[in-house]
Amino acid sequence: MDKENGLMKKGRLKKGLFIVFEGVDGSGKSTQVELLAKKLSRKGLDVLTLREPTQGKWGEKIRELSKCKDSITPEKELELFIKDRKENLRLNIKPALGSGKIVILDRYFYSTLAYQGARGIPLEKIRRLHQRFALRPDIVFILDVPVSLGLRRIKDRPVIYRLFEDREYLKKVREIFLQLDDPECVVLDGRRPAREISQEVWSILKKRFPVLSQA
Ligand code: ADP
Ligand code: TYD
Repeated sequence: MDKENGLMKKGRLKKGLFIVFEGVDGSGKSTQVELLAKKLSRKGLDVLTLREPTQGKWGEKIRELSKCKDSITPEKELELFIKDRKENLRLNIKPALGSGKIVILDRYFYSTLAYQGARGIPLEKIRRLHQRFALRPDIVFILDVPVSLGLRRIKDRPVIYRLFEDREYLKKVREIFLQLDDPECVVLDGRRPAREISQEVWSILKKRFPVLSQA
């Protein structure tokens, strides 16, 4: 291990790095996750990309229930997202960080604050429920786009999450994202071309985590 720059052999960092992308549907999260993962991998760093809701049993349950409106109460929704997140932390995120990988996660508890908060659950309650178990990311990029642009970008996508893609509802979701004042959150203008956003992401990461430029 090279103690000077925090890098271990084989592209692993001493303590791992936990990066999250957030934003309304169609804000460009998956695109940025992929661009960043490619960039870090090209540098020889060991990267794991994940998303929530996951492909696990709770994630599948969320997908199944959210197909039809009103089949699920906000409280039940909250409970399922939390179960899915706990499992993701235990099975995937913590082991990867523990072995020095860079974890890039598409949506995390900030989505619960925004989406379930917009369904009427008090934000303090959502925060309290996460306090004991939800590891804080090193950095969270919130990709901000007007809801109409996000929806236009995903109009051809099969509607799996009908419940979550209502315009007025998503406007509330966007507002909550923009009001988050957690120090790890960085809001980026998601209207720009994907390459330009990706360059900004990289320059912020290099500044905050100099170890990345040493890879
Ligand atoms: P999300 O994961 O936030 O729902 P995606 O990354 O899947 O968003 O992007 C949704 C659609 O918009 C995709 O077709 C993608 O190619 C396109 N897209 C992503 N980022 C941009 C961007 N910055 N400018 C224009 N189109 C984009
Ligand atoms: P996702 O598959 O990431 O959708 P997209 O690629 O369109 O952004 O997420 C599925 C939906 O689940 C999305 O509309 C947001 C919603 N969601 C919540 O309501 N609460 C949560 O905690 C999470 C993680 C997602």
